[in-house]
Amino acid sequence: MHVVVTGGAGFIGSHIVDAYVGRGWNVTVVDDLSTGERENLNPRAEFIEGSINDPGVVSRAMRPGVDLLNHHAAQMDVRKSVADPIFDAEQNVIASLRLFEAAVNAGVKSVVFASSGGAAYGEPLFVPQTESHPFAPMSPYGCAKLAVEHYLGYYRQVSGIRGVALRYGNVYGPRQKQHGEAGVVAIFAGKMLAGETVTINGSGLQTRDYVSVDDVVRANMAASEGELAGAFNVGTGVETSVVGLFETMCRTLGGSYATAHAPAKPGEQMRSVLDGARLRAIAHLPEPVKLDDGLRTTIEWIRRR
Ligand SMILES: NC(=O)c1ccc[n+]([C@@H]2O[C@H](COP(=O)([O-])OP(=O)(O)OC[C@H]3O[C@@H](n4cnc5c(N)ncnc54)[C@H](O)[C@@H]3O)[C@@H](O)[C@H]2O)c1
Repeated sequence: MHVVVTGGAGFIGSHIVDAYVGRGWNVTVVDDLSTGERENLNPRAEFIEGSINDPGVVSRAMRPGVDLLNHHAAQMDVRKSVADPIFDAEQNVIASLRLFEAAVNAGVKSVVFASSGGAAYGEPLFVPQTESHPFAPMSPYGCAKLAVEHYLGYYRQVSGIRGVALRYGNVYGPRQKQHGEAGVVAIFAGKMLAGETVTINGSGLQTRDYVSVDDVVRANMAASEGELAGAFNVGTGVETSVVGLFETMCRTLGGSYATAHAPAKPGEQMRSVLDGARLRAIAHLPEPVKLDDGLRTTIEWIRRR
């Protein structure tokens, strides 16, 4: 099997590359290193450095013989998408279409796409949010993820490409960078280990579904190896507030840590929690990693750096 992984130098993408390589697959990574790191690159994968917005880069990667496209490259800063929706759509919608068109031309059979549950569903009407929860994206980033899911459905109908969209919760784990809303675990852990004050925006009662990158990798392997098609949540069903996350991290680290409160970020979603049971049942995946266990592994990794 030959798989092209876009964003394979990033946090999630690099773990997925490692899993494919571990299975003996032939892997090509496409990454412009805008937020990814060279040190995350698996030495047994081919690396094409460049943007998925560059038609030359895309045609080099999406060549005949490629079986699967795993698409993780994205502009994933929600606040940046609000500040510049056109830039966000160029990176997240147009570049995805460029890849999908090239995939059709190269005879690629399947596509796995990194979508976002929280960003696509918006503020919950019920919890945990299942795949049939209505969509109400609160950001251009969420609109883009949803648009790409629809394009995947379109390509499935007209070109027979098997498409799987995986709607993640807030993914955390080793290699995550300490920035952005998605990086809250890495940011808190970095500050706490450095003895710095942790800043909590707003009340700290806003909730998220923190899912371990190990569960995300398992979902990607199931989507790659099986016959799944359509959209699936990848979440734990456990709702954790920012304050709750901080307290769990204090317990994991031992000791007490200083916090300061800052004003709430305008437009920030208050709640998000995903029901991931459907994918786990269909793909026979284990129960999700418990937050305490996942945090311990993540903190250990940050400590060793
Ligand atoms: N981290 C989360 O909690 C989360 C939640 C939901 C969805 N996702 C999605 O998962 C994917 C990976 O996220 P991540 O957390 O690993 O982020 P990341 O920033 O670590 O990874 C993104 C990678 O894509 C690369 N990239 C960005 N734009 C590119 C372009 N135009 N051309 C080539 N490479 C480009 C970056 O250099 C980086 O290596 C993204 O699509 C993101 O939207 C992440």
